[in-house]
Amino acid sequence: MNTIGVKSLGYLGVEATDIAAWRKFATIVFGMEISDRADGGIDLRIDDHKRRIAITPAARNGVAYIGWDAGDAANLAAMEARVRGSGVSVVEAGELERRERGVQRLIVFTELHTGARYECFYGAAISSTPFRSSKPISGYKTGSEGLGHVMLAAADREAAVAFHRDVLGFAVSDHIDEPPIHATFMHCNTRHHTLAIVDPFGPVKSGDFGHLMLEALALDDVGAAHDVVKREGYDLHLTFGKHSNDHMYSFYVYSPSGFPIEYGYGGRAISPNWQVSRYPSIRIWGHEFVG
Ligand SMILES: [Fe+2]
Repeated sequence: MNTIGVKSLGYLGVEATDIAAWRKFATIVFGMEISDRADGGIDLRIDDHKRRIAITPAARNGVAYIGWDAGDAANLAAMEARVRGSGVSVVEAGELERRERGVQRLIVFTELHTGARYECFYGAAISSTPFRSSKPISGYKTGSEGLGHVMLAAADREAAVAFHRDVLGFAVSDHIDEPPIHATFMHCNTRHHTLAIVDPFGPVKSGDFGHLMLEALALDDVGAAHDVVKREGYDLHLTFGKHSNDHMYSFYVYSPSGFPIEYGYGGRAISPNWQVSRYPSIRIWGHEFVG
């Protein structure tokens, strides 16, 4: 994979008006392990990392920041030089912020095509206790493939893709063109994609956070979660289906902060002689838009 650049999706920072709703959603749908934060929010665990998703109390709902794992100090320094070299101003996080995120070093900048707050770091805190899921599940596929993947909308998709390729070290996996959906999928490890950039379409505006994907170790985890979603009346964004490009079996459910989470299983990996393809549809079956 890349020599200089992002190694995986590390963490996500979420703002929420209703922490209790997140507490319930994260446990009964996803079996996440919850710990209380000093600010009245909650940290969510899905693996050996102390926190993968931080939910903080706020007056608004949405994604506040995206944490990209650089792997080590040398790579982070090299990435910082590239980001600065591209003309983007970078801020070094202080000790308080580093401690709050639980990382060794942290640089922060705004990704200009999406307006997203990017936090590049290394040395995420690993827990001394194993992940204890809050319901019986097999667990999550993370490790070198990181937390999962995110989708962001950008008015100038080509320029956004170029920045993530040339500056942050991502490589293009493939594209989907199913008008009005036009998206480019990018990888930085063997996960089929860690980032997708989509053109604005319908109600989706440039800068919107599309979704977070989490990958289960067993299809039964996803199926059982789908039962819970139906029973509890959580809103779906996309029905159960199989994607054309990464072959993921998944459904998309709206989180209490208004953005969808894709819960998937069986995504295919990037192989050494990967060929970039273009697909005319997002789906092999299912994945119908609900809302
Ligand atoms: Fe996805």
